Amino acid sequence: MAQIASQLQSELRVEAGRRRTFAIISHPDAGKTTLTEKLLLYSGMIRTAGMVRGRKGGKVAASDWMEMEQERGISITASAMQFHYKQAVINVLDTPGHQDFSEDTYRTLTAADSAIMVIDAAKGVEAQTRKLFQVCRLRQIPVLTLINKMDTPGRPPLELMTEVEDVLGIQASAVNWPVGSGSDFAGVVERATHRMLLFSKTGVGGSTKAQMVQATLDGLEAESRLPQHIREQVAHDLELLEVAGNPFSREAFLRGEVTPVFFASALTNFGIENFFDAFVALAPSAQVRLADGSGGIEVPIDPIETPFSAYVFKLQANMNPRHRDSTAFLRVCSGRFERDMVVKHHRLGTEVRLSRPHSLVAQARNTVDIAYPGDIIGIINPGTFAIGDTISLTDGFNFKPLPQFQPEMFARIHPTDVGKRKAFDKGMMQMAQEGTMQILRSLSELDSFVAAVGRLQFDVLQYRLRQEYRVETVLTPLPFECSAWLVGDPSTFRLPMDALIVKDRLDRPVILFPTQRSKTFALERNPDHRLQDMG
Ligand code: G4P
Repeated sequence: MAQIASQLQSELRVEAGRRRTFAIISHPDAGKTTLTEKLLLYSGMIRTAGMVRGRKGGKVAASDWMEMEQERGISITASAMQFHYKQAVINVLDTPGHQDFSEDTYRTLTAADSAIMVIDAAKGVEAQTRKLFQVCRLRQIPVLTLINKMDTPGRPPLELMTEVEDVLGIQASAVNWPVGSGSDFAGVVERATHRMLLFSKTGVGGSTKAQMVQATLDGLEAESRLPQHIREQVAHDLELLEVAGNPFSREAFLRGEVTPVFFASALTNFGIENFFDAFVALAPSAQVRLADGSGGIEVPIDPIETPFSAYVFKLQANMNPRHRDSTAFLRVCSGRFERDMVVKHHRLGTEVRLSRPHSLVAQARNTVDIAYPGDIIGIINPGTFAIGDTISLTDGFNFKPLPQFQPEMFARIHPTDVGKRKAFDKGMMQMAQEGTMQILRSLSELDSFVAAVGRLQFDVLQYRLRQEYRVETVLTPLPFECSAWLVGDPSTFRLPMDALIVKDRLDRPVILFPTQRSKTFALERNPDHRLQDMG
């Protein structure tokens, strides 16, 4: 028995240890899709890039599956893909790349052990990157930075590093440094070793791996390939970094204090493979997570020592139009998962059999027989699972509740055909359960409202009500930008003229305000009431 246990532990140590579960965070157009595709290229999953493709001309990424995503060329559903990269097993969580995103995007980050932040060398740190980075910080997820598009005219590397530090409030430490930039971008030099990696293009538009030669700054290879001013610039920058650059330590990176910075071009593949190699070397596998035990005591859930445990971070209904099903995405946190395993469902206090588990490799669903800490599995959900649910072999704890985010967009919605009310209500209920948006009603219950983090969710809602519930709807965006739960007696609350009072699914009063100022004003007028943020 003891021998079996120790065998299992050494298996878990190896398998969990080689998993890298991460998300790519970036502003739209920074190159997330291209980078994901190149990861597939260098892992041997695809032979030529350009099949998975970017957004224009109706091309779609492998991780997109909804028809609407394909129509609009954007990634809406945050899904996960698994494949091998050299010795590592990669679980890449797809976070929507559109500037409108949902709570799903944020929640998906809770399932990641690390993140790759892609920054466009010409644009620097942009709005969505900032928002997503804040979530990583909140969850203490270590972040690697990739300054992409070095093959196009961009901003000076030092300026970009300073911007990362100033805007995001994290130390940036260059692991490699660009050799030339724009049309002169030839490769990178590793700061620690001064080894130079120089590339030349092979296939059209980076469709195949770039050819690489190693060189030294003062060697013949560099001399023959690089103009003198570029060599001098690199030598000068490296000296400067020696004096003024931040030191890098893996421990500080894992603590979220420093982000290692890499320069590359995902399009031409220059610097991409050594970035992936560094990512695998630096990024953590599943770590100990703190869960809430009984009596408010925190219990550590160790990926190796604790028997199988997982939590639901995402629900998605009707992914396959031919089977009206719903999938719960589980993140394995500890122990070994086996197909058909019977586990404890902590919220319901019952046992459930985990049958028909699957993972995604590009668009294909694969049955999962065994999974390890860090893995993401989809389970058919007949209504048993809700977001944040903990399941495990041994109970007595719950993973921390998933964060909720303050909605910023509001709209009124009703079915065009009143006869479709029942189907409409059913669909709305399903969407609310998936947690991508919040559903509100007027006090009279006659009107329905939706509140979301991003506007795109409204389009998704209407699309899915049409496709999955055959209900056409009219959606009118409302001029509100913040909301709060009202704590106190609603009948004595002096509502500002421009605000609206509604109620949530649990009949709690919610106030919608057109501006933060209106909210502050309401608080001043109602000293006996409190307003509690919905995020
Ligand atoms: P996203 O998922 O972050 O939104 O970005 P995506 O990879 O779709 O890239 C956005 C655009 O930037 C694409 O061009 C892509 O080819 C280009 N791109 C990505 N990485 C690099 C890079 O390293 N260098 C250069 N020069 N361009 C890069 P597009 O014209 O919008 O699409 P497509 O028709 O080329 O696919």
